[in-house]
Amino acid sequence: MIESENTLLIDNQLEIKYSKSIALEHRKKYAQFFTPLSIASLMVDWLIGNISLKTVLEPAFGLGIFSRILLAKKSDLLIKGFEIDKIIFSEANEIFSEQQNVEIHLEDYMYNDWNNQYDGVICNPPYFKFHDYDNKLILSEVENQLKIRLNGFTNLYTLFLLKSIHQLKTNGRLAYIVPSEFLNSDYGKLVKSVLIQSKILRHIVVFNFKENIFDDVLTTASILFCSKDQMFQEVKFSSISKLNELSYLKDYISNYPNKTDNEKTYLLEELDPKAKWRRYYQNPNGVKFKNLVPFSNVAKVVRGIATGANDYFTFSKIKAERLNINKQYLLPCICKSVDVKGCFFTKDNFFELVEDNRPAYLLNAVGSNDRNVKKYLEFGEKMEIHKRYLTASRNPWYLLENRTPAPIWVSVFNRNGLRFIRNEANISNLTTFHCIYPESSLFNTINIDILFAYLITDVARQIFEDNRREYGNGLQKFEPNDINKAMMLDLSLLSENEEKYILNLYQQYRKTVIAGLPQEYFVNTINEVFLSKYSHVS
Ligand SMILES: C[S@@+](CC[C@H](N)C(=O)[O-])C[C@H]1O[C@@H](n2cnc3c(N)ncnc32)[C@H](O)[C@@H]1O
Repeated sequence: MIESENTLLIDNQLEIKYSKSIALEHRKKYAQFFTPLSIASLMVDWLIGNISLKTVLEPAFGLGIFSRILLAKKSDLLIKGFEIDKIIFSEANEIFSEQQNVEIHLEDYMYNDWNNQYDGVICNPPYFKFHDYDNKLILSEVENQLKIRLNGFTNLYTLFLLKSIHQLKTNGRLAYIVPSEFLNSDYGKLVKSVLIQSKILRHIVVFNFKENIFDDVLTTASILFCSKDQMFQEVKFSSISKLNELSYLKDYISNYPNKTDNEKTYLLEELDPKAKWRRYYQNPNGVKFKNLVPFSNVAKVVRGIATGANDYFTFSKIKAERLNINKQYLLPCICKSVDVKGCFFTKDNFFELVEDNRPAYLLNAVGSNDRNVKKYLEFGEKMEIHKRYLTASRNPWYLLENRTPAPIWVSVFNRNGLRFIRNEANISNLTTFHCIYPESSLFNTINIDILFAYLITDVARQIFEDNRREYGNGLQKFEPNDINKAMMLDLSLLSENEEKYILNLYQQYRKTVIAGLPQEYFVNTINEVFLSKYSHVS
C-alpha cells in the first residue's frame, strides 16, 4: 500500500469490493477490469516524471485507481475523468467527494472533450471488439475529428488511444495499458503508424505472464509509455514474464531520458508499422535452429472452399435423403473443425460423420439435369442465395471453388499453436481449415508423411510461432500467407536412415492415435531427432 496524506485509499481493496458486489455480467458489459496496483503505480510514475505535470486526463475512470495514486504522489494536480457507467460513476464520485481538483464526467469519452489537451493521460481503456460497440458511429466520429481512415475491425481500445494521443500537450506524457494484440494484428497497423509519426512512443512493455494479470480476462497486456518531448530518436521494447521484473521498469522510468541499457532499442525510423512488432520484443524461435528454408519452398497453403452460404450448400445424410439428392452431386467435405478430433482423418472417420448425420457433403451441381437437384437450385434462388456476395460473382452461382482435396489440413484458429491434420480420407474442406499442398519439384520429391511428422512436432510449432498473428482471448489465427511466409527445417537434408527412423516412429504414433490412445512418446522422439540434427550447438 502506498502512503497517502489525503483520505484516498491506495490499494485495490475498492476494486476488489466492487467486483464482489457487482455482477460479472454488468462488469463485462462495460469492460470493468481493473489495473493491479503495482502496474498502476508504475504508470503513474511515468506521468509524474514530467516535472511540469499539472493537468491529467483519465479517460476510462472506473474507481480511479490512477487518480488515487497520482494524488498520493503529487497533490497539486487537476484531474478530469470520464466514465460511462452510472453505477461505478456514483461510487467513484463518493470516493473522490472531498477532492476539489478531481472532476469526473458521466459521459462517453469517445464523443467528448476533443478540444482539450493535457500534460498527462493515463488509461486502462475498455476492450471491445468491433461488433461489441457501436463501431460505425464511433469510427466516423474519430475519422471526422482526426481526418484519418480507419479499419472497421478496430478494437475500441485503439480508438481511445488515438484520441488520447491527440489530446496530449507538448512535453506531456501518456501511459496506456492495452492488450498486446494490436502489435501483431492488422487493425493495429494504423495506431502503430500514428505512434511512429507522432514521435511520442518511448517504450512498449509486453507482459508475457503465465497467469493473466487481469483477473477474469484472458488477454496478454502491454503498457505503452509515450512522451511528447524532444527525445524521440529511440523506442525501447521489453518483455516481462514475472511481476518482480517490474523493478527494472522503475529504473527505466527514473533514469529517463537517460538509458539504462541498449537492449531491444530501435531507432524510430527502423520500426515498420505494417510488420508484426513481436519481432522487436521476442527473440525469434527460428534462430535456435540451423538449415531453415521458407515453408513455401516445400508446400503451398491455400484457404479452404468458401461457399458463401454454408447452410445451403452443405448436406448431411438425412438432408440428402429428404431432398432426394443423389450422391453423385455431393462432394465429400469436412465442414466444421469440431468434426475432426485427432490429427489423422481417415475414411472411417468420414463414414462415422455421415452416419452421425453431420454436414459432410457439398452440393456439386454444375452440369446436372437431375430433377431434384434442379428443384433445390430453384429453392436456392427463391431464398436469394444466388445474390449473396460470393455466389453473385460465380457463373453459374452454384459453382464450387476448384480445390483438389489436400493431403494435409491446418486449422485456421488455434489455442495452442497450429493444428495439422493428415487428410487420409482424401476429402475436400471448407474454410475452417486451410489446405496444404506439398510441392514436389524435379529435384526434390516430398514425402508427405515425413512432412506431416515434422509438422506435428514441437520444433515446427516453435518456428511457426514467429509468424502468428494474435486475436483476443488467447486465440491465434494463421492466414495462409502467415504459413507460406514462415520458415521450416530443410527436411531434404535428412539421410535415408533418418527418414526411415522417423517414418517408423510416425507409423507407430499413427496406430496409437487411431486406436484412441495416442502415445506422445513417438512424436517426442521424432522431435528429438530434429532437435539433435538442426539445433545450433550453443
Ligand atoms: C478497463 S476499466 C478501467 C478502470 C480503471 N481506470 C482501472 O484501471 O482500474 C474501463 C472503465 O471505462 C469505463 N468505460 C467503458 N466505456 C467507456 C466510454 N466509452 N467512455 C468512458 N468510460 C468508459 C468502464 O465502465 C470502466 O469503468
